[in-house]
Amino acid sequence: MDAKHIDLLNEDLGKLKLLLTPLITENITVRNDNIRCLNLACGRADESGVLKEILAPLASSLQIFGVDIRSRELDIAQNRWRSDPHTSYDFIFHDATKLHLITELDQQCHIILMRHQNYWNGANTWQKIYASALDRLSPDGILVITSYFDQEHLQAIQAIQQLDANLIITIQNTQSRLIQEPPKKSVDRHIALFSKSSNII
Ligand SMILES: C[S@@+](CC[C@H](N)C(=O)[O-])C[C@H]1O[C@@H](n2cnc3c(N)ncnc32)[C@H](O)[C@@H]1O
Repeated sequence: MDAKHIDLLNEDLGKLKLLLTPLITENITVRNDNIRCLNLACGRADESGVLKEILAPLASSLQIFGVDIRSRELDIAQNRWRSDPHTSYDFIFHDATKLHLITELDQQCHIILMRHQNYWNGANTWQKIYASALDRLSPDGILVITSYFDQEHLQAIQAIQQLDANLIITIQNTQSRLIQEPPKKSVDRHIALFSKSSNII
């Protein structure tokens, strides 16, 4: 990756952090405890540092898990993000439609992020991924998605609501960097937060 590309990625992450920080801190209820965060369909997990910066001040210890089916990207993540005594990183090669089979995720997570969820690319698969994510979300947890496209974001929200999750808020990133047109595709173009319905345990 060249220096210009790295600068662009860092700018994107700075914007994501500005938007995510108040959304997460105002809506997360667990504090001063071990916080478990799942970065689902994480790819290279570029946003791992942002997650740590937001969550570490809220937690006595922090566990960040990443799950994806692309081993090359997971290797990059594993080499880049190193655990320390307060925050552990664990990148797991696994199908996100079957999270219940992952031993490390036996305990539910307080926050689950799907950055650039990919509903557009396969509605059936992503419906299963959302259901699997909600199954691994703690009753007081929050699910966060970001999307590249307007239409894909709306479809993802509908699909997640059909699984009985409550939409807390959806916002548009007005500083989102355009990467492809048409359809208008931009980095973290939309962000939505969900809580788990009381009838999903
Ligand atoms: C649009 S990319 C987003 C990657 C990363 N979150 C980001 O924002 O750069 C979608 C990711 O979903 C992953 N993915 C697709 N189907 C999956 C599945 N069944 N289980 C786990 N990951 C999956 C892909 O490998 C890819 O990394």
